[in-house]
Amino acid sequence: PFVPVIPAGGAGTRLWPLSRRSRPKFLLDLTGEGRSLLQGTVERLASLADHPPIVVTGTAHEAAVREQLDGSGLARVVAEPSPRNSMPAIALAAALVERERPGAIIGSFAADHLIEDHEAFARAVLLAREAAESGYLVTLGITPTHPATGFGYIEVAEADGGHAGPDLHAAGGRGALPPGAHPVARFVEKPDRERAEQFLATGRFLWNAGMFVVRASVLLDELAVQIPSLAAGVREIAAAHGTDQHQEVLERVWPRLTAIAIDHALAEPLAVDGKVAVVPASIGWDDVGDFSALARQLREHPGRAVPESAESAPSEGGGRGADGGDVRVLGSATVDAVSSRATVYGATDRHIALVGLDGISIVDTEDALLVLADEQAQDLSVLVARLDQRG
Ligand code: GDD
Ligand code: MG
Repeated sequence: PFVPVIPAGGAGTRLWPLSRRSRPKFLLDLTGEGRSLLQGTVERLASLADHPPIVVTGTAHEAAVREQLDGSGLARVVAEPSPRNSMPAIALAAALVERERPGAIIGSFAADHLIEDHEAFARAVLLAREAAESGYLVTLGITPTHPATGFGYIEVAEADGGHAGPDLHAAGGRGALPPGAHPVARFVEKPDRERAEQFLATGRFLWNAGMFVVRASVLLDELAVQIPSLAAGVREIAAAHGTDQHQEVLERVWPRLTAIAIDHALAEPLAVDGKVAVVPASIGWDDVGDFSALARQLREHPGRAVPESAESAPSEGGGRGADGGDVRVLGSATVDAVSSRATVYGATDRHIALVGLDGISIVDTEDALLVLADEQAQDLSVLVARLDQRG
């Protein structure tokens, strides 16, 4: 059996004021398709698994998550008492799966990404499952398009075993990989720009898309080697699942679990031992991490944004205006523009007018208005950190 897992936490500070602590990115409809990123993720996975995906989210978002998923019958929601990063969330799901379906393979997928090509994605997951059968931790790898510093990088080992590739016959060596899956030499989480540029120049690196396919028992056994208390903790919680002690055990054990990302906890150390494989996948993946990525998405898929103003605006305005203006509108705002290339997210019904602005995003919500130059979209996190400090 194959059980998808969706860790849904994290803040998404680079999409403020659309995303807030109370409304993280995965709950938002960023495509104008009428469903949140989480709902899209669940739908995509439900169709290729034999069991409903397990969504692990914080108690703070549990109600909102249930509201979005309930009724669909497509997912099972597990709540964690506090955020402890991705490893405890994924490990808890693995422990639940292993207890209920020994030998099952899990696939962990981020809650807040976009994937264009569902068929290619399904094929890649199938191949990853095959490689996971041989005991590997399998990641999906995306061909990098620029030296991004917000992603993990995967170095593909050379087939002849030369260079930096791990010796597959050494301690960690696992079975043969199916064609299309490759051993991983190493895994580097969020390098600085200089290193990212070096990686791209070698042509041997892929982006880690935050998707991990692995046998649940392998994940737990390897975690027991890397961080024994974490593996023991989630096993204890899973063992109490469905009993009257469950809540008590969860509240006692969870706060003591090491807060760590799966990338550091497992992917990096296991790659050194030759226990990680990668399936390169062309699936139209985008993590839509900031407003510049979102603007690019809406521009490349014009069907998505609702160029409402094209119909409702009185003058030459939104959509593709006769003046050459090109404005994508998401939400309920009415937009008029002259000579502007912009993306507008209007959560209110305010009338928004632009003249002569290029490459900007405007986010209009009830209590906050953001105007941002797309090319500096990353810097938004500086501002949000400042707002956080002020409380
Ligand atoms: N339940 C739960 N609790 N989920 C969490 C928590 C938590 O405390 N923290 C993070 N997550 C979830 C996120 O919602 C997301 O689905 C996944 O775990 C990854 O966490 P992120 O915080 O989004 O990680 P990242 O973007 O910095 O980096 C990861 O993803 C990149 C691709 O987008 C890494 O895997 C990188 O290597 C990768 O390139
Ligand atoms: Mg992320």
